[in-house]
Parts: sequence; structure tokens; C-alpha cells
Amino acid sequence: MPETLIQRVETGAERALEEYVQTVRGHVEGPAPIEETVENIVQAQTELISPEFQMPDAYRRVKEGAPYTRNLVYQDPSNRFSVISICWGPFQETSVHDHIHWCVVGVLEGAIHAIDYQRLDDETEQGRARLAIHKSTLHPAGSVIGLTPPPRTNIHKMSNGGHAQAISLHTYGDAGTKARVFAPVAGTFEIVDLEFHNP
Ligand SMILES: [Fe+2]
Repeated sequence: MPETLIQRVETGAERALEEYVQTVRGHVEGPAPIEETVENIVQAQTELISPEFQMPDAYRRVKEGAPYTRNLVYQDPSNRFSVISICWGPFQETSVHDHIHWCVVGVLEGAIHAIDYQRLDDETEQGRARLAIHKSTLHPAGSVIGLTPPPRTNIHKMSNGGHAQAISLHTYGDAGTKARVFAPVAGTFEIVDLEFHNP
């Protein structure tokens, strides 16, 4: 499924998403260093997520049995970036992970609790990492967070911080299909494949 842009541009929200994708593409293709690119995409998403923005039905689906639902909105044909709508049931959560590349996360509905980790090791031992919690933040709707690429940054865990369904929009600096997943107690990590739950 969707390797091309949203096929039907009918509602204002779909138009806003299409515009957002084109804006991200412009920044990704631009000459700015990665930190500035991430800041620009944070800005673009802050503008997109106005109080009037309602995620279209196609991207607010919840898949029964999934730990949380990843609805692919757009995947760049050259895999330079991807845009994914994540729908969270009450207290659903991710593993501890990073995204290998940059990512930008905006909270559309509900509140997302993020735990950020720091690495205590010197990253010389293959497949091993010693982590400690660095920060814990509850991001209300309207928040937009930019994470620059690893190493040493970007390790986090996210969860729906409440009983209502939450929706967040994630833009990744790759195809959005891989993450590095950490097992903090064992002190190990591995790269895992992530799936999309679009029908
Ligand atoms: Fe993440």
C-alpha cells in the first residue's frame, strides 16, 4: 500500500496533510543541516496542527490486538521520509526505542507521555547499551517535539497518558519501518521491523 500521496484530496484535513507532506519534502531536499531541517519540520507541523485540524477517518483507525496502531499517511518513494498517524488506546505504549534517523512528533488528540533516556555507556560494545531515564514529560494536544538523529539522543518511550484515545502524527527521516529497540534491564538492543496497520 501507499507509496504515493493520498489519493483523494477531498476534505480540508486531507489538503492540509498533503500540503504538510510537500513542505516536509521541501525541507528534506533543502540544503539546511539536519538540526535546522528538524526545526523547520517542527514549525510546519505546529502550523498544520491547528485546533481545526481533524485527522481524516482513514488515518484514525484502531487495529484490534495491536500494541498501538500505525496508520501510514505517506511514504516518500526514495524513503527519505515518512508520515504516520499513530492511534493509542488507553495507556498503550511503545518499547524503549530510537529511530536511527530524526523524527518529529505532534500530539493531535489526548496527551502523550514521553520518557527520554540517556546512554551511560561509551557505545563501544556491540548490541549493548546502559540507559537511564533523563526526563519524563506529559505532552498535551498541540505539542510538537523534534528529535535529532542518534547516537546518544533520541532514545525514548511513548504512551497514551490517559483513558481517552490519543492520536499523534509522526514524521521520520526514513521509511518509518525500523527502530532500534532497547531492553534496559538486560542492557541490550536490536533493530526491529515495524509494521503499518492500514487495511
Ligand atoms: Fe518513537
